[in-house]
Amino acid sequence: MIVCHCTQISDRDIHAAIDWMRAADPDTIITPGKIYHALGKTPDCGGCLDLFVGTMVKSDNLGVPSVLRNMRARRRVSSLK
Ligand code: FES
Repeated sequence: MIVCHCTQISDRDIHAAIDWMRAADPDTIITPGKIYHALGKTPDCGGCLDLFVGTMVKSDNLGVPSVLRNMRARRRVSSLK
């Protein structure tokens, strides 16, 4: 399914880019901009952003790296000390 009509990026392209980025760097934060860059494309109208992010979220490899999880909670605890 085409997700971004301006650049003809499909859901398969998005999942493949996420898998590739996660394999290359397990600690990276994956953003829509990084996916466009990895695919050699540039967004035009931005009308696909909701669907683009919705497609990203369905990937098993999108998760936030473990070292970056719960940072807000950790900051709150450290400020109470
Ligand atoms: S539809 Fe994706 S940038 Fe226009």
